[in-house]
Amino acid sequence: MGKKMILFLIVGVLGAYYIYTPFPDNIEKPWKLVWTTTNLKMVTDVAWFAELLGISHIMDTLNFFMSFLEVPITSDENVTVTETTFNNVPVRVYVPNRKSEILRRGLFYIHGGGWCLGDAAFFDYDLLSRRTADRLDAVVISTNYRLAPKYHFPSQFEDVYNALRWFLHQDVLEKYGVDPERIGVSGDSAGGNLAAAVAQQLIEDPDVKIKLKIQSLIYPALQTLDMDLPSYREYPNFPLLPRSLMVRFWSEYFTTDRSLEKAMLFNQHIPVESSHLFKFVNWSSLLPEKFRKGHVYNNPTHGSSKLAKKYPGFLDVRAAPLLADDNKLRGLPVTYVITCQYDVLRDEGIMYVTRLRNAGVQVTHNHVEDGYHGALSYNGFKIEYRIENQYMSWLHENL
Ligand SMILES: *[C@@H]1O[C@H](CO)[C@@H](O)[C@H](O)[C@H]1NC(C)=O
Ligand SMILES: *[C@@H]1O[C@H](CO)[C@@H](O)[C@H](O)[C@H]1NC(C)=O
Repeated sequence: MGKKMILFLIVGVLGAYYIYTPFPDNIEKPWKLVWTTTNLKMVTDVAWFAELLGISHIMDTLNFFMSFLEVPITSDENVTVTETTFNNVPVRVYVPNRKSEILRRGLFYIHGGGWCLGDAAFFDYDLLSRRTADRLDAVVISTNYRLAPKYHFPSQFEDVYNALRWFLHQDVLEKYGVDPERIGVSGDSAGGNLAAAVAQQLIEDPDVKIKLKIQSLIYPALQTLDMDLPSYREYPNFPLLPRSLMVRFWSEYFTTDRSLEKAMLFNQHIPVESSHLFKFVNWSSLLPEKFRKGHVYNNPTHGSSKLAKKYPGFLDVRAAPLLADDNKLRGLPVTYVITCQYDVLRDEGIMYVTRLRNAGVQVTHNHVEDGYHGALSYNGFKIEYRIENQYMSWLHENL
């Protein structure tokens, strides 16, 4: 064999090793998914590397690449799209063109992206809002919010909450022809986190008279306490949302100081003074048997209280809605939760379902056995349409 041949082989093997992602048997179109995840992996690796070299923060690099996914504001034959601000927060508004004799449903949508990435202008969010407006004859508000690393908690939460409160004014609803009795919040991933958090906050807000009819949480992030749930153990390297990236997103939500990330990776960030919170995320009692199988519950390890004093946000219920007590959960509206089997966030979604049901809230839980994090946003897979159809039918019946 010539030297060229050997080099070719080495590059081939390394390349295959890089691309190789063992997907479970029930995943649809694994090769297409490998293609998608390899692109994602390359972009993420470039961003990690640029950070390592001190060129730019990982999230800034990712945001640069992802900005190519943005689409301009365009109306079509069925939906009029405009941009405005609600309480100084930029939002996109989708209003159906067809005439309506009655007031419409209103859906307030919050995009995902780990509190660091994403925009209502992304192609797939724009498309989802458009389709929702058209299919449900609803006014859809797709909100933006300030992102990390430039802004940390509670900026993200506050922007979303301020925009929602603006929308819930009687005169704003009148302007858009929205029925005050048929308003919901919805969001995916970090947006699902924010949706759950603002829904909780609204219950206790004496200034807001109009209440939500539903909340819809699509593979939401809900807790900061335990980074060692069975789903974190089972799929730490599932390419669409590896554990390392999820921990980075969480820590970046609170601070750019990497010491929080390190402590979270070792699951040693909760001070002993906060031990009482662990009962809210205790998977050994809150997860159904099926998801606990083969796992041993270890009592939590504790870290120093320095981090929690410096960055109290990670113990704040507005960042981790699963930490709310039952009294608060009781007041929540009818709920829809989507969880995916191959997702580190699977178990917190399921635990929230358990806790809401225990508190007497009516919940529809859609667990997608062949689903993975972000499935609603990956175009060209049947699973995207399936989840979207189930989601739309649920909204149609309940909103
Ligand atoms: C508008 O609605 C019609 C009827 O439902 C549909 O056939 C058409 O594809 C829609 N147009 C767009 C741009 O979605
Ligand atoms: C978690 O629940 C189990 C029972 O299922 C219990 O034995 C354990 O003490 C609980 N741990 C915490 C920290 O709440």
